Amino acid sequence: MPSRIAQIRLVSGHPEVYEPCDDSFALVDALLADRKNLLEHQPVFCMEVGCGSGYVITSLAIMLKKEDNAASVSYFATDINPHAVRVTSETLKAHTVHAEVLCDNIASSGLETRLWGKVDVMVVNPPYVPTPEDEVGREGIASAWAGGENGRTVIDKILPVADKLLSKKGWLYMVTLAANNPSQICLFMKEKGYASRIIVRRSTEEESLHVIKFWRDPDLQVGEISTIGSL
Ligand SMILES: C[S@@+](CC[C@H](N)C(=O)[O-])C[C@H]1O[C@@H](n2cnc3c(N)ncnc32)[C@H](O)[C@@H]1O
Repeated sequence: MPSRIAQIRLVSGHPEVYEPCDDSFALVDALLADRKNLLEHQPVFCMEVGCGSGYVITSLAIMLKKEDNAASVSYFATDINPHAVRVTSETLKAHTVHAEVLCDNIASSGLETRLWGKVDVMVVNPPYVPTPEDEVGREGIASAWAGGENGRTVIDKILPVADKLLSKKGWLYMVTLAANNPSQICLFMKEKGYASRIIVRRSTEEESLHVIKFWRDPDLQVGEISTIGSL
């Protein structure tokens, strides 16, 4: 039976690019756990912000591939790191799936005009590690983890952009760390009209990860607790 996700042996690499790790696997596991819903959702545009090695966007493209190979979904992947752009393109090619891969800083993204309100599925494993603020946005591999105060600096830039890019039926899957205060992230998104649900929880000796799914909920009442499962 063909693999439903990217194969590690076919994932390309570079010393300055984040290798698939526990957080990448948690995000792909969350997508797999929600695969039936994703297929029923029939996304037209899917996007990964911060694609790194390309493991996640490639896995998403494989798991949504139609049996007749009809290319009905368009995929975009972006990363601030130009090495990641090349490595992601190689990983996609090695798995015979396609995405448009762009070097882009989500904090000053040129994609807002082009993809405004179009993205049906967005996936993000952001740099979430709490670090001194001056480490955020440095060149190369440091940009993969350096998240500034509470690990929230890049996350807080991604969320408003995600709100603009997501379509009316758009879903966002995001990895967060307990230290990022995920309840506060859910509250911020709730104020923008999104409900949320934890799809995957992972605890290691070093970190406690959640993969949270957000979707627009027109019935959401301000003050209502909408996240299913406690954070
Ligand atoms: C934790 S790594 C995740 C890589 C890959 N998605 C995975 O799960 O294995 C975070 C990625 O976000 C990228 N990144 C960091 N800041 C960014 C920004 N402002 N805009 C776009 N990408 C960014 C990094 O270069 C890195 O590749």
